[in-house]
Amino acid sequence: RIPLLIDTDPGVDDALALLMAFDDPRHRVVGLTIAAGNVGLDHTVRNALKLCEVCGVDAPVFAGCDAPLLHPARDAAYVHGRDGFGDCGYVAPSRAAEAEHAALAILRLSHEHAGRLLLVALGPLTNLALALKLDPTLPERVARLVVMGGAVTAHGNITPAAEFNVAFDPEAAHLVFQAFPRFELVDWEAVLAHGFPHVEFERWLTVDSPRASFYDAISRQTRAWAIDRRGDRWHSADALAMAHALEPEGALELAERPLAVELAGVHTRGATIVDWRREGGGRDNARILMRYDQARFERRVQAALAAR
Ligand code: BDR
Ligand code: CA
Repeated sequence: RIPLLIDTDPGVDDALALLMAFDDPRHRVVGLTIAAGNVGLDHTVRNALKLCEVCGVDAPVFAGCDAPLLHPARDAAYVHGRDGFGDCGYVAPSRAAEAEHAALAILRLSHEHAGRLLLVALGPLTNLALALKLDPTLPERVARLVVMGGAVTAHGNITPAAEFNVAFDPEAAHLVFQAFPRFELVDWEAVLAHGFPHVEFERWLTVDSPRASFYDAISRQTRAWAIDRRGDRWHSADALAMAHALEPEGALELAERPLAVELAGVHTRGATIVDWRREGGGRDNARILMRYDQARFERRVQAALAAR
């Protein structure tokens, strides 16, 4: 099976993506490296450990960076709850994180699975950037890097121009996007184009499975917020990125273009700037997911919730 390493900041949509990964017959999760993002690192680590426990998964969990490389952290607690899992009051997990730092674990696992590793980044890119600083040869050992982040025509979700994962740590995203020769990007605008009806999703959550019940509990607050804010469709950013990572054959359209991160703008810091007309002479570093097989995506989400 293909070794899968997930860098994540759980997070309600991260959790759905992890359920999909845990349920996949073609991949084996070799580690979860955790960053601060949606909420602080103490919560994101605890949430990852709890989700593993609920799913009976013993993949090692590594705590990483608790803040962006340069600037102060912001969070998305207003979406995911103060604890990142909808403040549903779950019983604390019994397992603790490994002693090894996430950035070191990324490097070690890249050696152990050199040439085969699928790396999926679902949060701010701080851990990956740090790993790259420690060892710039990391991309040579990674078979694919799939990132959830950015807003390729600058329709952001955390600022008018920027998406949360990139805006949280623009310098880290810059380092990663420059270093990986052909990373795959699932951006916020793709996410908006691949929502599914809340009524359907709520029906899938009623299936008799501990995973679905747990997900129902942790996502309740976010679903209410999303209905209020975005209407009748549920958008799960990290789940779409994971669907593409696990089943790239579902990609119906990918655009290869040069992509850079705006680091200095007053209104645009953290925006992902795509050279759509290829006028700047940059190389095509990004493979941007434009369209994914919606039925395949929905089937996977439904199966992940029903899995035992
Ligand atoms: C991304 O930011 C986070 O809030 C989500 O977990 C997702 O990774 C969407 O912009
Ligand atoms: Ca995330």
